[in-house]
Amino acid sequence: MQRLIINGGKRLCGEIKVQGAKNSALPLLAGCLLAEGKTVLRRCPELTDVFAACRILNELGCKCSFRGGRVVTDSADAAGWRISEELMREMRSSIVFLGAVLGRTGKCELSYPGGCELGPRPIDMHLAALKQLGVRMTEEHGRISCSCPRGLKGAVIDLPFPSVGATENVMLAAACASGETLLRNAAREPEIKDLADFLNCCGADIKGAGCSTIRIRGVKKLHGCEYEVMPDRIAAATYMAAAAATGGELGLLGVRCEDVRAVTAVFEEMGAGVYCPEGRIFISCSRPLRAVRVIRTMPYPGFPTDAQAVVMAALATAQGSSMIVENIFESRYCHVDELVRMGADIKVSGRTAVIQGVKKLCGASLRAHDLRGGAALAVAALGAEGTSSVGNVHFIDRGYEQIERVLESVGADIRRR
Ligand code: EPZ
Repeated sequence: MQRLIINGGKRLCGEIKVQGAKNSALPLLAGCLLAEGKTVLRRCPELTDVFAACRILNELGCKCSFRGGRVVTDSADAAGWRISEELMREMRSSIVFLGAVLGRTGKCELSYPGGCELGPRPIDMHLAALKQLGVRMTEEHGRISCSCPRGLKGAVIDLPFPSVGATENVMLAAACASGETLLRNAAREPEIKDLADFLNCCGADIKGAGCSTIRIRGVKKLHGCEYEVMPDRIAAATYMAAAAATGGELGLLGVRCEDVRAVTAVFEEMGAGVYCPEGRIFISCSRPLRAVRVIRTMPYPGFPTDAQAVVMAALATAQGSSMIVENIFESRYCHVDELVRMGADIKVSGRTAVIQGVKKLCGASLRAHDLRGGAALAVAALGAEGTSSVGNVHFIDRGYEQIERVLESVGADIRRR
């Protein structure tokens, strides 16, 4: 099992070119199924979750090759409609293939997705919304069989919560449905807008993505296109947290400041200087940082749950007491016990964590339990005194492209063993 060995206390300085967004690349790859012919996705991050999505495409008969950040797909022979349990279990976002496979073939058989490390992650909203588009479902031995006897038909759908995945599934299924779909209380995350832009580039007619109401006029078919995946706002937030934890100064290139406003506002409250010229973010931090009053994770444009753990790692050594309320996932504090091993003073009660800043953290032997929690341990270790080892790096590899090389390039003492 691989681990990261980090000698902490090195100030990070320099520039980082931020990777393409994992959470956009995955639904875009599902969308490639709908686009008849060849599609090229540029700036696709080389991550284990993206490789898993490519394997699902292959299983469905869609050719998929990945070289130098470019994924080329050819869906001409993509007649498959069954996704094996093994591939479904590899990641939670495998569920986003449901809408795409239905849109392509009118039927689909799959099992419940994996990725339950954040607590229960049901898919009831996905299934209920798809039923409204005319999908019939039966379930046996954990396999869900879907068909649309009369084809997919546009509908008015009100989501009970602005679920990112359910919004993506509806967009994918409705893109080639007959008639118009009105999706209300849709998620507004930038990745939703990226998926709509991609599908529109393939000939879809989707308006309003990024707002709560999305209108999708079904078209007969989609064609291939060339498209660049949006920048990863959570990787950007993670590198900002690493700058904060080490009192460093980083320039993040190829990012969109408007996507991370809720995060930069928190770093500014902590006393960091943040400057955002077009396509870049400069963050400069001098220690000690200040505590923040309260951070509540919320759907976009609120503070992202995916940045909660890495920001907590920086707050662990801020002066004063900070509070975090995790509103999106029930169990997203697995990193806390590991931070406490390093000397952090953090108490969790239900969805609330109270972080009493300490003077310093000390290197320790740590273990990642999930993707963002694992990144938080790396952030804490970079700012800590002494050597840390972070085990279960495979969680971190799901979302960060060559994290040790990126951090090393800006002065971290980090290696993979
Ligand atoms: C997406 O997950 C992201 N994943 C997550 O990123 C992110 O944390 C999350 O959105 C929230 O921003 C991808 O984009 C691949 P949701 P998703 O449906 O779509 C409940 C990361 O670290 N819910 O918006 O699964 C659910 O349990 C990750 O990169 C239902 O109850 O998130 C959760 O509490 C992890 N029923 C809440 O809604 C449903 O049918 C938000 O989930 C669907 C969701």
